[in-house]
Amino acid sequence: MKEDVYILGIESSCDETAASVVKNGRKVLSNVIYSQIDLHTLYGGVVPEIASRKHIEKINQVIESALEEAQMELEEMTGIAVTYGPGLVGALLVGVAEAKAIAYAAKKPLIGVHHIEGHISANFIEHPELEPPFVCLIVSGGHTHLVVVKDYGEFEIIGRTRDDAAGEAFDKVARAVGLGYPGGPKVDKAAREGNPHAIEFPRGKVEGSPYDFSFSGLKSCVLNYINHAKMTGEEICVPDLVASFQNSVVDSLVSRGVAAALEYGYDKLAIAGGVACNTALRAGMEKACKKSGIRLYYPSPIYCTDNGAMIGVAGYYEYRKGNISGWDLNAIPNLKLGQR
Ligand code: KG4
Ligand code: ZN
Repeated sequence: MKEDVYILGIESSCDETAASVVKNGRKVLSNVIYSQIDLHTLYGGVVPEIASRKHIEKINQVIESALEEAQMELEEMTGIAVTYGPGLVGALLVGVAEAKAIAYAAKKPLIGVHHIEGHISANFIEHPELEPPFVCLIVSGGHTHLVVVKDYGEFEIIGRTRDDAAGEAFDKVARAVGLGYPGGPKVDKAAREGNPHAIEFPRGKVEGSPYDFSFSGLKSCVLNYINHAKMTGEEICVPDLVASFQNSVVDSLVSRGVAAALEYGYDKLAIAGGVACNTALRAGMEKACKKSGIRLYYPSPIYCTDNGAMIGVAGYYEYRKGNISGWDLNAIPNLKLGQR
């Protein structure tokens, strides 16, 4: 019988300090997340300096709680996985330094994980039958990528955003209409009361690159709409406005995701990242996939936004491939997917 593999996954790339114990790459034994959202809400976005300081303050506590919740000791871990990029450099450094210190002290292998690989891997937690190859759309606050997951840890990027990430567009529009930070969940909620066809906003396209995304034109249109209304004294119906904006984003994401799965010949499509929580995106994808005979996968909301479990899962597959990091592992803020 094969020995069980326990990975402690650590994540600190943005504004969540998170740790988790994952058994054999699929079973989450604990998932502890300390969210700094309330702190950054005051400033309308993540303040990197504050994020780093808070990670330092919380990381030991979060790791201890993750081990406690799993009813395990550090010595029982097979390896320590940590996000080393992309993300905010100061925030990443806290996780990387911590992981190095405890891995070295406990004589455990250190496994550096790409944050996006983590998001993709979140899909393995609740879908035991899901295995590569499949197409995955990663939509978060910092990334919008369309990739073919050829094997565990092996990716072909077929599309990406040329400007704003999908989550960033949600956050900026939310701020413009006064919904506050983080905008995604607030827009999602407000849009449920609105008419998605009230305002005809454009669908961003990138000439010659059918799988690339562009959201800055849409964002400008929304801002122009708001400014025009203010100047002419017209009242803005916020639910209609955000529902129409969301409809444009969802349209762009759904059409490219489904077209990529069909063209590349995969009948499995997964979505990942914070924006994968979005109810309109889930519903739109579900409908389009059903029509095209594609099986759709998405993680529960708690595994869509940043968490340690997704790093534990990705770390397991990297460990199985023998991808162990050296003690010189460093934080790489602009780490490319597939780069080691
Ligand atoms: O994956 P994540 O936690 O962090 C990054 O790696 O960026 O994603 C955070 C992003 C934020 O932009 C947030 O507004 C967005 O995900 N988000 C949503 C929803 N929940 C979170 N966007 C749209 N609808 C939601 N329900
Ligand atoms: Zn993320």
